[in-house]
Amino acid sequence: MEMIKIFDTTLRDGEQSPGASMNTEEKVKLALQLERLGVDIMEAGFAAASPGDFEAISRIAEVVQNSTICSLARAIPNDIERAAKALDGAKQKRIHTFIATSPIHMEFKLKMQPNEVLKRAVEAVKLARSLCEDVEFSCEDACRSDIGFLKEVALAVIEAGAKTLNLPDTVGYRLPQELGYIIKELKSCVGDLAILSVHCHNDLGLAVANSLAGIQNGARQLECTINGLGERAGNTALEEVVMILKTRKDIFGDLETRINTKEIYAASKLVADITGICPQPNKAIVGKNAFAHESGIHQDGMLKHRETYEIMSASDIGIPQDKGLVLGKHSGRAAFKDKLTSLGFNDLTKEALDNAFEKFKVLCDKKKEVYDEDIRALLTEEATKIPQVFELLAMQISSDSNGVPYAAISILKDGISRIDAAIGNGSVDAILKTIDRISGYNGILKDYKVEAVSEGKDALAKVVVKAEFEPNKPAFIGHGLHLDTLQATAKAYLGALNSYLSMRSLIAK
Ligand code: KIV
Ligand code: ZN
Repeated sequence: MEMIKIFDTTLRDGEQSPGASMNTEEKVKLALQLERLGVDIMEAGFAAASPGDFEAISRIAEVVQNSTICSLARAIPNDIERAAKALDGAKQKRIHTFIATSPIHMEFKLKMQPNEVLKRAVEAVKLARSLCEDVEFSCEDACRSDIGFLKEVALAVIEAGAKTLNLPDTVGYRLPQELGYIIKELKSCVGDLAILSVHCHNDLGLAVANSLAGIQNGARQLECTINGLGERAGNTALEEVVMILKTRKDIFGDLETRINTKEIYAASKLVADITGICPQPNKAIVGKNAFAHESGIHQDGMLKHRETYEIMSASDIGIPQDKGLVLGKHSGRAAFKDKLTSLGFNDLTKEALDNAFEKFKVLCDKKKEVYDEDIRALLTEEATKIPQVFELLAMQISSDSNGVPYAAISILKDGISRIDAAIGNGSVDAILKTIDRISGYNGILKDYKVEAVSEGKDALAKVVVKAEFEPNKPAFIGHGLHLDTLQATAKAYLGALNSYLSMRSLIAK
């Protein structure tokens, strides 16, 4: 058996996905889920990029025990020193430093000669090694670099102390045969002196295929993200490569990962919840329809023998097998806690558990049937809660087909309730305008999504709002969960505002 290391970069490359920024609490929550999933290494951020990244890496380094925590750093001393500092509390840590090696990047972006790039790479790795035992070096845009130069850089950085050499297809340009050839060449050059790693982008839809070609030619580390999130068209989807290795043992033989595939679904849901970016319904492995059989012929075949139409089972990925009709209003705290454990929420503080139980009871009073998905949504809301600078107290909406919609809202801030009202061109507009009047912030709405958490007319509504509160600064995401969609809207918008306020001092200048 030979192990493939899974290097998850959802918190770094994934977060570079347009609109996917996360607050610190959300990052910590996701890091704990990645640990349960069993990733070998998680790239928790880019410490020098912003105080927010630095703080998130430090917090993650303190709480995660079983995965190596990594920070990205450009090949410059300040970045490497910041990375080392952020990783200080980690049980196992790695610095990942990089510089571009392709002619186009060296000439136009870096404005450096190849010999200068080589020198900088070696110096960066030496400095990183003086601060951390485990150092990874990436040749950015490796797959458009001259292969002779790549080999020269590879041998030099390994000599300087790099233990992993990553060869990214930064712009997602290569075809599988081409990527396989690059890895084969590098493998023949470095042998067992370092672990070769692939990091593929999905611009031509080939990230997963290219990663597999890398593995077949000697790479033993795979860089990937949950749901394939990432810069532009994204990165290699973790769930896809892992399930391919597991399902096609006839091709991949003894290659194994440490991933607990039963945690894939929970990880995918969490990333979608936090970022507001949901995989398309027909997305392999984690899409809503990935295990749905619509045609009668298929259903008939499935009933006779599941493997007629299914190559994997939904339970292998941790997809709940039924709607999980749960406890009702008479259920006690112990049964509720049991349910949470079965859903994977086993690291809750007493306060979080109490709050969730209270919300569950309120929900049971209002909703006939409470499903696992409802509980999961309540808990995710609870677990990623940040300081509530503004809190919704009450809301009244008026909307009729001939009149002007208006909202009257009362919000708690610093223990004082503030009330105001505004009209809008619809109820949502009126709500957001009223909140702006009360808070004094003028948010720009970038995205608004509403979905039912489970089924039925009385389903909980989940609203995801993306809003910008400062020009040219990242938009923040807020979630609102309520039986009433408009109440959920107000909660989501306030959530985005609170998230912005909690991160304001940590955003890059
Ligand atoms: O795509 C890329 O080249 C990267 C590197 C920084 C590893 O993300
Ligand atoms: Zn990348």
